Amino acid sequence: MFIRRRAPLREKITLITGANGEVGHGLIQHLAAANDTSDVVVLDLRGLDESMRGKVNRVIVGDILDNELINLLLNEYEIETIVHLAALLSTHSEFNPETAHRVNVQGTINLLKLAIEQGKSRGSPVKFIFPSSIAVYGMPDAETKQSAGAVKEEQYLYPITMYGCNKLYCEHLGRYYAQYYQQLSATRTLGVDFRCLRFPGLISAQTMPTGGTSDFAPEMLHAAVQGKPYASFVSEDSQIPFMVMPDAIKSLLMLVDAPQSQLKHYVYNVTSFSLSARQIADRVQASFPSAQITFEPDLARQAIVESWPLDVDDAAARQEWGWSPEYDADRAFNEYLIPTITHLYR
Ligand code: SER
Repeated sequence: MFIRRRAPLREKITLITGANGEVGHGLIQHLAAANDTSDVVVLDLRGLDESMRGKVNRVIVGDILDNELINLLLNEYEIETIVHLAALLSTHSEFNPETAHRVNVQGTINLLKLAIEQGKSRGSPVKFIFPSSIAVYGMPDAETKQSAGAVKEEQYLYPITMYGCNKLYCEHLGRYYAQYYQQLSATRTLGVDFRCLRFPGLISAQTMPTGGTSDFAPEMLHAAVQGKPYASFVSEDSQIPFMVMPDAIKSLLMLVDAPQSQLKHYVYNVTSFSLSARQIADRVQASFPSAQITFEPDLARQAIVESWPLDVDDAAARQEWGWSPEYDADRAFNEYLIPTITHLYR
């Protein structure tokens, strides 16, 4: 007699890659505060800091380049959403561009393919949330940077860093996997529900980023609260857009929850405020009067910051899914950064 077996039900999860980075920490803390992490499985080369391990369903120590591991995930879980945070940031990437390409691009392809296979087996597309960056832009010169002001998603896409090239290409890959994947095969597969945010420089009161070029802002602040002198690697007038971590998490979760029918784009700028390194130093000094901040520009890193826009236009995110930041510069410093960081290092 032929007995038809029912496929065992797989546990439904949200997969967060690179969860031990600063966006991962911010996201897990936020979800844990809302009791919303029971379905969260994290994957990170370094595992997850001990203080956070108990907050999630499972921690997998592993590499997004490990295809066997990706296949295990495919078989073991029903993945509804992938938040793909794993990446090498811009400064790190310049020291080893080919490794950066493998992690940032091949790693993303592996996860997009996982999303496609999951979509097939569960019969509906997997949501794929991808943080991109202002590093995808490349302003040709200082005058253009000043006159362009807040740039739109499709303008000035000539990145000068490996990280920026990787992020820009992955934005295109996301669009491809969402809309055109295997477009010539006889049976078209379901695409992925690809949703991408372009973050400005992020500042968290709780964690330090590793290997970024917008890091002068968080570094200045974290040094001041610890009473350490800080020499900024960019000049006083270097200016780019920023956002504090609670707004980064807010935008990410708003994009996760946005109804598909409202989304007309795959890629959205989000931002909060734009300040120069001098203006950040002044705000830090106002709260920590003994802070010793000097400016000793590293010309190569400075050139990277100069290639990023003065500001970005996030009108599409505002119009299509109701984005607006909670923290302008005043609130960011007075109500989030200074009080939180002071408490943290007390
Ligand atoms: N914060 C990133 C970096 O500096 C830019 O998105 O690399």
